[in-house]
Amino acid sequence: MVVCAAPPAAAVSDLVELLMAAGWTVQVVPTAAAAEWLDLPMLEALTGNPIVSRTRRPGESRRESRPDLVIVAPASFNTINKWVAGINDNVALSLLNTTFGLQVPTIISPYAKAVLAAHPAFHRNLALLAEWGALVTERDALRPERPAHPYQWNVIMDLIPAGLR
Ligand SMILES: Cc1cc2nc3c(=O)[nH]c(=O)nc-3n(C[C@H](O)[C@H](O)[C@H](O)COP(=O)(O)O)c2cc1C
Repeated sequence: MVVCAAPPAAAVSDLVELLMAAGWTVQVVPTAAAAEWLDLPMLEALTGNPIVSRTRRPGESRRESRPDLVIVAPASFNTINKWVAGINDNVALSLLNTTFGLQVPTIISPYAKAVLAAHPAFHRNLALLAEWGALVTERDALRPERPAHPYQWNVIMDLIPAGLR
């Protein structure tokens, strides 16, 4: 699960809990920016897996195994645009570029305010990711129905391919 630096990141443990209740083993991979926002020890305790937040050094063995499913939530404007451009400069992008090449099923939930989302590259890049096979929610689909209500993580749970449930 790749987590970017947008407000739903603060509540991403709720998605982890939903996934674990559905039988998934969860590995959280924050972007460098999101790593600053998250309670990493809490997420490590919850998932039972160490958080991977820096790229591998030469000679260091690969830490994460090939996932069955990749979830990018929340997916930021920045990460979406870098990913489609093939930029690979943090551990989250490195994972996304690799797993995309391996055709691992991928769910993306973009979260960006309207002024950012108005950038033509953002719309085009989300369309490209969908064209390349990713399952993409509506922008801001995670947004709570009303202020102070929980994020709508079920939009992601509902997109998990039937063969993986
Ligand atoms: C309080 C706050 C809220 C933000 N909300 C969003 C957001 O909803 N969507 C977004 O794409 N970026 C948002 N940003 C900007 C990202 O955090 C910033 O572009 C960051 O570089 C993204 O890094 P990442 O894509 O590596 O996670 C926000 C920044 C701050 C400080």
